[in-house]
Amino acid sequence: MTAKNQGIHGVWKNRWTFILAATGSAVGLGNIWKFPYITGENGGGAFVLMYLACILVAGIPVMMAEVLLGRRGRMSPIHTMEHETKEQKAPGIFAGLGWMGAVAGFFILSFYSVIAGWTLAYIGKMASGEFTQATADVAEASFSALLADPWMLLGLHTLFMVMTGAVIARGVKHGLEDGVRLLMPALFIMLLVLFGYALTTPGFMQGFNFLFSFDASKLNSDSIVVALGHSFFTLSLGMGAMMAYGAYMPGKASLTSTVVTVAVLDTLVALIAGLIIFPIVFTNNMEPAAGPGLMFQTLPIAFGALPAGSLIGTVFFVLVAIAAWSSAISIAEPAVAWAVEKGIPRGRATFLVCLLAWLVGILTVLSFNVMGDVKFLKGTVFDNLDFLTSNIMMPLGGVAIAVFVGWFMRRKDVAGEVKMKDKRLFRAWRFTLRYISPLAILYIFIKGLG
Ligand code: PFF
Ligand code: NA
Repeated sequence: MTAKNQGIHGVWKNRWTFILAATGSAVGLGNIWKFPYITGENGGGAFVLMYLACILVAGIPVMMAEVLLGRRGRMSPIHTMEHETKEQKAPGIFAGLGWMGAVAGFFILSFYSVIAGWTLAYIGKMASGEFTQATADVAEASFSALLADPWMLLGLHTLFMVMTGAVIARGVKHGLEDGVRLLMPALFIMLLVLFGYALTTPGFMQGFNFLFSFDASKLNSDSIVVALGHSFFTLSLGMGAMMAYGAYMPGKASLTSTVVTVAVLDTLVALIAGLIIFPIVFTNNMEPAAGPGLMFQTLPIAFGALPAGSLIGTVFFVLVAIAAWSSAISIAEPAVAWAVEKGIPRGRATFLVCLLAWLVGILTVLSFNVMGDVKFLKGTVFDNLDFLTSNIMMPLGGVAIAVFVGWFMRRKDVAGEVKMKDKRLFRAWRFTLRYISPLAILYIFIKGLG
């Protein structure tokens, strides 16, 4: 197998297909579930500003580097990194980068699937009309009841994992293209409808100010680490997902505009989600720092108040579930693609990867009930898995990618891949990748540890 081949996995039809797939990976629970809840826990505006800065200084430059590596290697991240490390005569440690990503992928998929299971439950709850005219108390009680039921959570987790495996087993491209092409615009329209509702609530300005006014005193010592980690999580960076998708990207497509498009779409969806959720929080005297349940306790109130709310709510949670689905597929792809290159049939590889992630996911299921009191380091097992992957493994992977492409890859190889017409832009990007991104990430790390 050589880096010159077109890959045994095939190539996306065109640049737009890559954009759709990469956006499908990026836009998911991270935007609609996680961004609002960590923003609430970290005090609002100052955190949002740090997050946006991280997207700009680290997220976009690293994403270009990661997609570039994938497209050049045309193999799974593990094989691409093993191959490129030799090819560029870089220190052997970089060959391990794909492995770290695969491990991170197992952990992320394990809890991602559990949370995605909650959205499946909410499709049913919405359709049953449970939230018509719902108050904050009703919404909170309903969510608590769901979390208290480990068997229910396990069933939903299982269902979502099976859905994910079914698409991966067929090959990413076939399952994904049509789905994402329909889903992304639909999700966007639904978000705008909800945004319209949020605008009419009395708490809108308070929600807006919470998101966009800078108050550094509300930050805590973890905030900057969480903001950085989230910029990687939300863009699916630092663990090989984007590298795997980049491997299927047509050679001619422009890297820069493609990556910037994906990052802008992802950021827009997150900010709109925040502008929906926080006005509802303040209008109903709810707690912005409610944690992982935030989205599930606020949105039902909005739907309960809207005409035909049960119907709109059902459609909305279907869309969130699909967004989570298209992300979950990309989380598993690096490990599956590696196994396929090793000669394991795609179906069996998928089964093994999903089974392992499913087993680890049981710990997250139990973190919200039976094992709710088992706390160490950052909290429950779920909290720790989340912190370890988003806030440690993904940023570390990001530094390694930036350093590899910035320092160890021959300049002409890099330039040959990005093909930027504007030489100054190329220099600015490469400078950021060499100095600013790694130093910023390392600085935040050291600060976070201290
Ligand atoms: N970017 C996804 C989200 O925001 O929901 C999460 C994710 C997908 C993380 C793929 C990692 C990954 F490889
Ligand atoms: Na995202």
